Amino acid sequence: MKTLMVTSGKGGVGKSTIAVNVAVEMALSGYNVGLIDVDIHGPTDHIILGVEPEIMTDGTHFIPMEIGGLKFMTIASGVGEDKAVIWRGPLKAKLIDQFIKDTEWGDLDYMVMDFPPGSGDEPLEVLSVYNNKIDGAIVVTTPQKVALGDVEKVINFLKKMNVPIIGIWENMSYYVCKYCGKKHFLFGHGTDDLAQKTGVDITARIPLIEEIGQDTGISKLFLTRSEGELRIEFGKYVDEVMKKLG
Ligand SMILES: Nc1ncnc2c1ncn2[C@@H]1O[C@H](COP(=O)(O)OP(=O)(O)OP(=O)(O)O)[C@@H](O)[C@H]1O
Ligand SMILES: [Mg+2]
Repeated sequence: MKTLMVTSGKGGVGKSTIAVNVAVEMALSGYNVGLIDVDIHGPTDHIILGVEPEIMTDGTHFIPMEIGGLKFMTIASGVGEDKAVIWRGPLKAKLIDQFIKDTEWGDLDYMVMDFPPGSGDEPLEVLSVYNNKIDGAIVVTTPQKVALGDVEKVINFLKKMNVPIIGIWENMSYYVCKYCGKKHFLFGHGTDDLAQKTGVDITARIPLIEEIGQDTGISKLFLTRSEGELRIEFGKYVDEVMKKLG
């Protein structure tokens, strides 16, 4: 099984949207895929998947939810969307540990993990559970200058922890005007500087998509549900990820 982290130094850049769509795309390609929402304080993957979160257990193990070939674990059902839960460090670590080790995942080809921003307890705990061996990370950013400093820090963290970086995925790269058909780079081109500075390639550019932004139904799975050019391009991005994971 190959393990993939989807991370960023910055919040709100599209980590969860990308992690879920990548996992769904892998499952649609016929692979056995697990998805863990490691964002314990602010889980959102269930919203993107359009499912009611539920943690099941057979008494000794957790049973992941199954959505069209994708196996999925989240703490969301135990939290409640409007409730804040105080997770002390050790409790959070134990939960992450259980999600990975005490869950009936079966035989997986890929484990995709969606992280909260930064290099805090969550990635450290996941690294420790996997004996510091993670097969790859996608680093998500948006092109604004304000995002890039924090993203650079997370890249340095991954390098230090010897996590192979598959590439920087630039989200909200541009917007294709529905009237004139032109690409507008609303947030500039800052990611190019980040790539140059860190020596990590930008391997995907995902535009701003009205449907994803608009919180309606399962539109957040737009990248894997739509038709047309972007759908094909997204498939290629994910193929490349699987190749790089080995
Ligand atoms: N390409 C896109 N086009 C339009 N809206 C997007 C795009 N990507 C993400 N969004 C929207 O931006 C918001 C943040 O996305 P998301 O929750 O995936 O980010 P995140 O990095 O996981 O955030 P957090 O740090 O809070 O976990 C969501 O409302 C999402 O629907
Ligand atoms: Mg998120």
